[in-house]
Amino acid sequence: MTRIASRVSQLHGEGALAVYSRAKELERQGRSIIHLELGEPDFHPAAPVVDALRNAVAAGRDRYCSTRGLPALRAAIADYLQRTRGLDVAAEQVLVAPGCKMALSLAMMALIEPGDEVLFPDPSFPIYPSFTRGLGATAVPYGLEEKNKFQPDPDEIARKITPPTTVLIFNSPNNPTGTVFSDAVLEKLAGLATKHDLWVLADEIYARILFSGEYKSIWSLAGMAERTVIVDGFSKSFAMTGWRLGYAVAPVEVIEAMDLLVLNTFTCAAEFTQVAAIEALGDSTNAVEAMVAEYRKRRDQFVAGLNKIPGFRCQAPDGAFYAWVNIENTGLSAEEVQKLLLEEAGVAGIAGAAFGQGGKNYLRFSLVSARNLLAEALERIHRVSLHWRAAVSR
Ligand SMILES: Cc1ncc(COP(=O)(O)O)c(C=O)c1O
Repeated sequence: MTRIASRVSQLHGEGALAVYSRAKELERQGRSIIHLELGEPDFHPAAPVVDALRNAVAAGRDRYCSTRGLPALRAAIADYLQRTRGLDVAAEQVLVAPGCKMALSLAMMALIEPGDEVLFPDPSFPIYPSFTRGLGATAVPYGLEEKNKFQPDPDEIARKITPPTTVLIFNSPNNPTGTVFSDAVLEKLAGLATKHDLWVLADEIYARILFSGEYKSIWSLAGMAERTVIVDGFSKSFAMTGWRLGYAVAPVEVIEAMDLLVLNTFTCAAEFTQVAAIEALGDSTNAVEAMVAEYRKRRDQFVAGLNKIPGFRCQAPDGAFYAWVNIENTGLSAEEVQKLLLEEAGVAGIAGAAFGQGGKNYLRFSLVSARNLLAEALERIHRVSLHWRAAVSR
C-alpha cells in the first residue's frame, strides 16, 4: 500500500503562515490589513547587490557550482565574520546553503541521531523542535521567561541534560523575544557544553540586528570552535529573504558531512546569488547600519505605544525585529486577541503559542512595516482594546 513516511507526521508548520493566509483573504475582501505577522523585512537589497546579480547572470554565472559554495564567497563569509563578530574562521569551515533554514536542517541531519535528546529554547523558532522530532530525536524545551528578562536559566538547562542529550540549540538575538543572550549566560552554556560533550547549534541569523553593544558569538569562547555550528544567512541582515542564501560555520568534519548531504539533495546554491552575496557582505552603501537604525526607531515607537494599551506589557527587545507582548492582563487568550486584532482591527500579529508553550500568553508583532503604519496599527489596537479594557481595570 502506498504511504507517506512517518517522519513527516512528526513535523509541524509555522503559525505565521496561517495568519498570513487569513490576512490575505481579508485583503481580497477589500479590508485594510497592516501586516506584522511575518519575519520578512520590508527593505530590499542595496542597489549594488541587485546590479551584481544582474551582471552575474549576464556573464553566464548560472552553472552548477561547488557543493560547499563558491570559494570566493566562503572566503568572504570568513572575512565578514572576522570583521563583524571578531571570529577566527577559515574558509574551509564555511558551507553555503539555500537559506539559513537549509543550513540549519543540514546541520541537524549531520549531528542528530534517532533517540538523541536536543535542547531548544521555548519560545523560539518552531523549526527547532519540529525538525528534531522529524529526525526521530526528542526535543527538550528550556524556558526563556519574562521574569529572567527572557534569558535562559543555565541551572534549568543543566538539570535537563541527560545521557542521550547531544545538541544544545539556541538563537541570539532570539526570535520571538528579541533577547540577546548575556555574556554570563554564554559562558555558562559553553561550560555545560564542554562538561557534557554537547554540540552547540547557534542560530545567529539576527546577529547584525542589534540595538546596542557588539555581538558576541559562543564560537569565540575557549574550546567552543570545535563543538559549535553557527548558522546564519542573508535573509534578515541584507533583506534577501527570497534569494534563499545562508551558510553554516563548523569544524571541518561537520562541513564534510554536510557537504555529502548537499551532494545528495540540492547539489549547490544558485551561482549568481552567491556572486551577488559577496557584494552584500562588502556592504558598500552601509545598508545594514541604516536598516538597523530604522528598526531601532520602530522598536522605540512601537514598544512605547504597546505599553500604553490596556492589558499589554512589552519589554524593549535588544535585537532582531520583533515585539513580544504579554497579554495575560487582558483576561483573554492570545488566540482571542490575535483574532480580534486581525478580524476587527485589521492588524496581523501572531499568538505566541506558535513559538512554544512558553509563548501562550504573548503575541508577536514583526516591526517590518513603516513607522506610519506602526502608528496606525497602535491606534487600531487601542480602539479594539475596548473589548477587554473593562477586564483590565477590574
Ligand atoms: C531564528 C530563525 N532562524 C532562521 C530563519 C530562516 O532564515 P532563512 O530565510 O535564511 O532560511 C528565521 C526566519 O524567520 C528565523 O527566525
